[in-house]
This record gives sequence, C-alpha cells and structure tokens, in this order.
Amino acid sequence: MILLTGSNGQVGFELARRLPTLGPVLCAARAGADIALDLADLNTIEPVLDRARPQVIVNAAAYTAVDAAEDNVEMADRVNHRAVASIGAWAARNHALVVHYSTDYVFAGDGTSPYCEDQPIAPQSVYGRSKADGEIALRASGAAHLILRTAWVYAPRGKNFLLTMLRVAAERERLRVVDDQIGCPTSATTLADMTYRMLASPALRDKLGTYHVVSTGSTSWCGFARAIIQRAQQRGMLSRETPVDAITTGEYPAKARRPAYSVLSTAKLTRVFGIVPPSWQTGLDATMQQLQASCCGER
Ligand SMILES: NC(=O)c1ccc[n+]([C@@H]2O[C@H](COP(=O)([O-])OP(=O)(O)OC[C@H]3O[C@@H](n4cnc5c(N)ncnc54)[C@H](OP(=O)(O)O)[C@@H]3O)[C@@H](O)[C@H]2O)c1
Repeated sequence: MILLTGSNGQVGFELARRLPTLGPVLCAARAGADIALDLADLNTIEPVLDRARPQVIVNAAAYTAVDAAEDNVEMADRVNHRAVASIGAWAARNHALVVHYSTDYVFAGDGTSPYCEDQPIAPQSVYGRSKADGEIALRASGAAHLILRTAWVYAPRGKNFLLTMLRVAAERERLRVVDDQIGCPTSATTLADMTYRMLASPALRDKLGTYHVVSTGSTSWCGFARAIIQRAQQRGMLSRETPVDAITTGEYPAKARRPAYSVLSTAKLTRVFGIVPPSWQTGLDATMQQLQASCCGER
C-alpha cells in the first residue's frame, strides 16, 4: 500500500490520480483525505504510520509558502525537515520506501549551466534551507528513498504562477514580470507521471537516491508569463494578448531571496531510469488544454 501525504496539494492531487495503477493508495492530509495527518504535529506521525503500515510513503506535503517562511522559520523547519526525519525513521525501521520532493531552491543560483544532483547546495531562503535539511535528514535516516528535486510547479488548481498570470492578464492593461530568474517550469501532471514511471521501473531498489525531475528547457518568469498568455489568447481564454514587460528581481522585491539560475539537469533521470522529460512548453500546452476543457465544461 502507498501512503500519499499532501494529497490536496498541486502535486499530491495529480499523484492521487496517477499512482493507483501501482496499487492501493491511502491519502493523508490535514483534512479531506482518507486519514488525518498534520505533519506539524510531530508526535503523531509515527503512530499514524504504525496504524497504516505502508510499503511506500510518497511525501508530497510541504510548507511551500516561500516568502511567509521567512517569518515562520519554526513551522517551515518542522514540516519540511523534522517531519521528514520522522517519516524516514519510521520507514527505516519498517523497510518502507520514501519518495520525497525537494526543490531547485536548495541551490544558490549563481551557476550558468544546469545543476547536477551532486553539486553543492547553498539555499538562500528559509524555505530552501528547510527543504535542504529535509533531504539531509531523510538520507541520514537510513530509509530506502528517492528524493525528487523539482521546480516552478504549476497545475490547473492550487496557488501557482500560471493561474495568477491568467487572472492578472485578464484584469490589467500590461504586466511587469521578472526576467532575470531562470528555471524549469514543470507541470504537476508531468511530475506525477514521471514519479509513477520511476516507481514502476524494474529493479527500483538499485536506482534509489536523489534525482532532478523537471521538464526540459528553461525560461525566465517573464518568458513563462508570455508563453502562458499567448496560449490563453490562442485558445480564447483571454480576449487579447496582454503585453508583458521584462523587469529585474530588484524591481519586484520579495521577502525571500530566490536563485537567479536554478535550471536542473535531468541527465541522471534519463541515464538511470530511461525517462526523457517533456519540454516545459509541452507540459504547458497540456495544462492549458486541461484548463480550457474544465472551463468549457468538457470532460
Ligand atoms: N510549487 C512549486 O513550485 C515547487 C517547486 C519545487 C519543489 N516543490 C515541492 O514539491 C512538493 C509538492 O508541492 P506542491 O506544489 O504540490 O505544494 P502545494 O500545492 O502547496 O501543496 C502542499 C501540500 O502540503 C500540505 N501541507 C502543508 N502543511 C502541512 C502539514 N502541516 N501537514 C500536512 N500537510 C501539510 C498542504 O495541505 P493543505 O491542502 O491542508 O494546505 C498541501 O496539500 C513539495 O515538497 C514542494 O516543496 C514545489
């Protein structure tokens, strides 16, 4: 049995649809799932796992509010680090596999070519530090694990850049979007599909470790915004192609510092699992189609 945390989140929701072909999936969340699990309540994690006794734990839950984390250091650390340590400790004792998601924000972002899994990390924010500490704790737990670092995740639901751009592009004459942060926009559906393919892979126990699991190619937030708006206009979801002006990070101050360049290399994912991720544009097209279908009442 697979226990899936964060099943109401962007990635968790797509995993809850994709993973059941592998076996029964028990969804765990603070509310609205098969079982209640609050990762901030550290003492309850192992008792919940004792009752459920999963063979695989897929941890898609996280404290993901990057700017708010700067003022909520303890909560970010509890959910993204110490809860992961508890999950790892239980999994190590019970020979369960842990699939855990991490982030491109563990890197400093001062590179100029795609980051590989074994490059040194240097998180620049509280969120990035808490996710890095979660990775370290899971490795130290001795549990069999896959740490999947992903980036710039969006989905047809939840709080994400794609949905924000569609909303503000309909409301405003022009937009101003940061053009000097470069990354890999990755749809939650693509990520769930690649996770499924990794878990279904033969001899999985020989392939454990840390992987970068993102779409291929890269762009800036500004490039991503323009691509979203262009596609929305072509699909009749926006009446016009709202212009997007490129600005610098300095012109859009945010509480948390973000990496300027956080493109992740997926060479290891391809070499070990034979998975070639789709381009970010392909993932975006698929999500736009899903959004268009849902807003037009198609199935
Ligand atoms: N979003 C991105 O751009 C991005 C980029 C890189 C890596 N990641 C990583 O990818 C993974 C999935 O992220 P996502 O985009 O799906 O995030 P998301 O949409 O914010 O979902 C996070 C989920 O975690 C749950 N959660 C938060 N605090 C919890 C707690 N104390 N106990 C139990 N559940 C809790 C939330 O539950 P509620 O539904 O109750 O709020 C939510 O369902 C995370 O590990 C994240 O760090 C995300």
